[in-house]
Amino acid sequence: MQVLVLNGANLNALAERDPALYGGMSYPELETRIYGWAKELGCSVRCIQTNHEGEFIDTCHEARRWVDGVIVNPGAWTHYSYAIRDALELFAVSVVEVHLSDITSREEWRRVSVIEDVVDHRVIGKGPDGYQEALVFLARKGKVKR
Ligand code: DQA
Repeated sequence: MQVLVLNGANLNALAERDPALYGGMSYPELETRIYGWAKELGCSVRCIQTNHEGEFIDTCHEARRWVDGVIVNPGAWTHYSYAIRDALELFAVSVVEVHLSDITSREEWRRVSVIEDVVDHRVIGKGPDGYQEALVFLARKGKVKR
């Protein structure tokens, strides 16, 4: 099972962002956790973070050649990027949307996810553990075409 974990804008600054919302874990620490969880589940994971929308989209396109499941946290792009929504729609494998914070109880504009209709599962407001839940979901599902 080959999984892409794709994190978007500002997630590289994790430990510097509001800890009440995002916790104290840095992005490199988060990646280390994800690789550990993946190992336990027997998954092979590639973590990528970018602050560039085009790179996020190019990564999705390139991953279609090798990936069995996808975990995405597009950051603020979640709320308005139809280009990212359309890129995610192209995946023939399962896609899980993850948010560290509970976007459903924050500002009105954050409650909107333009990607929610093209993902198979959503994990919201569970902090870093949300990525583990997403990995477990994908590992259980296996390489299933939507
Ligand atoms: C986020 C929530 C977004 O609203 C925000 O812009 C982020 C992180 C989260 O993981 O909680 O950058 O996706």
